[in-house]
Amino acid sequence: MNTQRLLTGLQPSGDLHLGNFFGALQPFVNFLDTHPEYESYLMVADYHALTSLKDGEALRANIYNLVRTYLAAGVDPKKVVLFRQSDNLHHMELGWIFNCLVTVPFLMQAHSYKDKVAKGLDANAGLFTYPMLMAADIALYDTEIVPVGEDQRQHLEYTREAITKFNNAYGDTLREPKEYILPQVGIVPGLDGQKMSKSYGNTIPLFAPAADIKKAVMRIVTDSNGDFPHHVYAIHRLIKTESELTPIYKNSSGRYGEIKQQLAQDLIEYLAPMQARYAAITDAEIHAVLSQGAEKAMAVSIRTMEKVRQKIGITI
Ligand code: ADP
Ligand code: TRP
Repeated sequence: MNTQRLLTGLQPSGDLHLGNFFGALQPFVNFLDTHPEYESYLMVADYHALTSLKDGEALRANIYNLVRTYLAAGVDPKKVVLFRQSDNLHHMELGWIFNCLVTVPFLMQAHSYKDKVAKGLDANAGLFTYPMLMAADIALYDTEIVPVGEDQRQHLEYTREAITKFNNAYGDTLREPKEYILPQVGIVPGLDGQKMSKSYGNTIPLFAPAADIKKAVMRIVTDSNGDFPHHVYAIHRLIKTESELTPIYKNSSGRYGEIKQQLAQDLIEYLAPMQARYAAITDAEIHAVLSQGAEKAMAVSIRTMEKVRQKIGITI
């Protein structure tokens, strides 16, 4: 068991935006590139997305978009096992087994659930047990390390707890993973200055036509009292250095329109190569990548499940 594995993933829950790119995708890709010693698994967490999305056509489109995005962002499917959670039913199976090991009060402490309830929203039972499906995603592949954003830290604690409960009940079987919290770009602000998030409708989409990107940038809020345009600058800093930006912001001091035009142009140029790669990826390529990914993933997870089924007593 010398193979060191890493696994991470995103939910196909909507169009990806600049916050997802700089907060998750780009750091994932950098981590994968700089850690060739790991056998890497990159997952499309489509069953996780079902906790919030109840529109079949939208989910299907999001799955294609996310795989396209991974590939356009530079993931090499020859080096990385790129696969879909729903293509490997071991995730559901082990998720259920973990559900039978943890208590309701324990799950009630999870942020993913608590935040929804605090907002007065109805949490479905899938959202409630979400951390156990994530624990299964990770445990199935004997994963050592899980590179994720700060917001996922608690889910890794839940994963270790589920694995510990399993090992205590049935004897040492599953490996405990560690999170690797990706270096933060900080929170990317949205058009209104809050965290950029699809649920706030304040995003700059990654794969929109130039005109839409420009329209979004022109909507970024600025203070009317002539203060420095902090949100515009924060987004600009993601793609330009401080020394490149200082003269622009000095020369156009107070003229927000001009500065925003510049940001829009810079963003459009920055995103163009990735957008071109995105547009060139066919559905057939996506199907091929996913079916190879599923095969490789299952070849590993079946070994874990054989041990698990034996231990829990359903192998007769
Ligand atoms: P959304 O808030 O739009 O629903 P998700 O929660 O699906 O986005 O985000 C997936 C990942 O992208 C998160 O785990 C986080 O690491 C990253 N991310 C999302 N929004 C931002 C943001 N505004 N700034 C930095 N990172 C972000
Ligand atoms: N919960 C993660 C998110 O919302 C997605 C995810 C599901 C994941 N399973 C995973 C991330 C396993 C890392 C490892 O972004």
